[in-house]
Amino acid sequence: AEQNVEVERKNQEIEQARGALEEKAKELALTSKYKSEFLANMSHELRTPLTSINGFSELLAIDDKIPEEAREFVQIISNESQRMSRMIDTFLSVTQLERSDKKDVVHIALRLDEVVRDAIVTMQAIAKKKRIRLVEQANGTIPPVAADKSLITQALMKLLDNAIRYSPERTTVTISTVLEAEVVRVIVEDRGYGVPAESIDRIWEKFYRVARDGQEKDEESTGLGLAFVKEVIEQHGGSVNVESEVGRGSKFSFALPRL
Ligand SMILES: Nc1ncnc2c1ncn2[C@@H]1O[C@H](COP(=O)(O)OP(=O)(O)OP(=O)(O)O)[C@@H](O)[C@H]1O
Ligand SMILES: [Mg+2]
Repeated sequence: AEQNVEVERKNQEIEQARGALEEKAKELALTSKYKSEFLANMSHELRTPLTSINGFSELLAIDDKIPEEAREFVQIISNESQRMSRMIDTFLSVTQLERSDKKDVVHIALRLDEVVRDAIVTMQAIAKKKRIRLVEQANGTIPPVAADKSLITQALMKLLDNAIRYSPERTTVTISTVLEAEVVRVIVEDRGYGVPAESIDRIWEKFYRVARDGQEKDEESTGLGLAFVKEVIEQHGGSVNVESEVGRGSKFSFALPRL
């Protein structure tokens, strides 16, 4: 009987602890929701003043009544505020995705090999500047996936952008589409700088960037690209993957369930 009382008491304690935990979890979820809502609102509000800074500095930069030296400064203001706008846009699209439900994503039957072809055409100009060759490899018949065309295209472009940006000149980036059992995988393989082992688990985090010699000041980089890719792919019920070796190159990929 004494043992029963003891068990009963322990059960009550466990029940209480569980209740407290559930309460805490609810609180946390709410806090996190407020945080991302706050950040999204904030970013949205920053856009309006930035639009006029962008517009007027651009106008000033081409105004020949302004002294040469001052025009140079205005150009810097213009470039930097444009960069800020791009950062805010990427940030907004990531938080928007985090807040949206899987239901909000518009799924159509999408051929990933076609998405790859289009993305290569779009990125060709940037690749050419670095004399990087973009090679497409489609293997056999690729079944469609159910996905949002615009989001998947944007995600793939972020991977291509990275492959080009983090590779030396005159290298090759290979983009392949393969059918693996129940998923279609798109692989972007570069012969670039590679990601150090200690960074590999963190590169998908928002704002995380790998510091490289002579590259810390890369002005174009915000550390949001891969966070966006991961969010988009996971919203589609897919998964992302990376293998990389410093000095040899990287292999980024995503897989989506086939139709
Ligand atoms: N193909 C790659 N090769 C080597 N390093 C890479 C590659 N792709 C990403 N990285 C590293 O991972 C980091 C995070 O990448 P991510 O795309 O999220 O941000 P970013 O490129 O720095 O900025 P952006 O928001 O403009 O994409 C980068 O700073 C880069 O150092
Ligand atoms: Mg990037």
